[in-house]
Amino acid sequence: MKTPADQSSYLPPRTLLICINRRFKASEPSCAARGSLPIADAIESGIRERRIAIAVERIVCLGQCTKGPTLKLVPGEFILGTTIDMVPSILDRLQAACGIRADDGPPVHLLGS
Ligand code: FES
Repeated sequence: MKTPADQSSYLPPRTLLICINRRFKASEPSCAARGSLPIADAIESGIRERRIAIAVERIVCLGQCTKGPTLKLVPGEFILGTTIDMVPSILDRLQAACGIRADDGPPVHLLGS
């Protein structure tokens, strides 16, 4: 994840896409078959608890099926081969890049949660 010091045109990610696609044929890889649903739950909970200023959207396929579980920052890069053990460091990175919501209003809309 790039930081403002990396690039003068840096834009922090506004949305985190999480692939929850499940294919039932063993010969066809998919993120849910590799554990993306509990990862999505943990990331969404962490974002809510930490009040990180980013939206989350569960999505069906990001075109990186053989490398999943797949996350995608928008704007930004893919996070591939995600494991549940990576969630705290992903939350740390998101918090550093996106900051904390200062308002006391409703939480950032979490689609699919
Ligand atoms: S099934 Fe997750 S990227 Fe395609």
